[in-house]
Amino acid sequence: MSEPLVYLNGAMTPIADAKISVLDRGFIFGDGIYEVIPIYGRRMFRPAQHMARLFRSLAAISIPNPHIEAEWMRLIDQVVAAHPAEDQMAYLQVTRGVAKRAHPFPLEVTPTVFIMTNPIVLPSPAVRASGVACVSMEDKRWLRCEIKSISLLGNVLAAQHAVEHEAVESIQFRDGYLTEASSSNVWVVKDGAVLGPPKDNLILEGIRYGLIEELCIANAISLESRRISRAEVFAADEIFLSSATKEVLPVVTLDGHPIGSGIPGPVYESLYRAYQQAKAAA
Ligand code: PDD
Repeated sequence: MSEPLVYLNGAMTPIADAKISVLDRGFIFGDGIYEVIPIYGRRMFRPAQHMARLFRSLAAISIPNPHIEAEWMRLIDQVVAAHPAEDQMAYLQVTRGVAKRAHPFPLEVTPTVFIMTNPIVLPSPAVRASGVACVSMEDKRWLRCEIKSISLLGNVLAAQHAVEHEAVESIQFRDGYLTEASSSNVWVVKDGAVLGPPKDNLILEGIRYGLIEELCIANAISLESRRISRAEVFAADEIFLSSATKEVLPVVTLDGHPIGSGIPGPVYESLYRAYQQAKAAA
């Protein structure tokens, strides 16, 4: 089978031929943003929300948006169509572009636009049934976590910390309060109610954040966004993660301590079912 094609700066090309300059500011400074969009049955899931976040990220770091929304959708559909898998994970990256190395924004520069897609790898039924282990750590990232920045060193180190502790994710705390995991949002359940950290600069507002809000309303589950202390997290009845690739995923141990009864809980089960229905209805 020939290699799937990627999109780079106006052309579809095999990934091995997709080349950028070493002076690209994404490479030199991590000066860029990205998006990850789940594709089911070759259709984007929650496209309007992903487009809105992409545009917010670009605006937040003053990269001029290189395409109108319809054009973005056309480019993504083109890459998705060129891939053999029905269910995919599209990755979009925009950097400020190529310029002589100097920290401030260059005066004249064209953003670099890259789109690739891969088969989506979702947690297996066995992993869903058993739930996953997480470890906690201090959140040492910067204070603009609401931007979906490609500068992911803090997240990379947190993800590696999890791997080294045989965990699926590191759940991070800043000044004693829950922020998020290395590449997913974190939710806590207490007495049947879902709690999520505030949508502020300390977390990335996942597209699943809004979806979980909608699913909670539709399923008469109460949801509150507020600061959640470390003690509350460890005393939770349930914890679950959400992201494009995890969908919703139950956490059954944190630092080796069982959470609730140590098995995936009923609120997670309801939200997982509702998530699958939302996918099927999209
Ligand atoms: N990560 N928080 C962080 C730090 C993330 O990296 C992600 C997603 C999320 C969840 O966002 P969403 O629901 O839109 O997937 C929260 C993606 C999947 C990644 O970086 O690969």
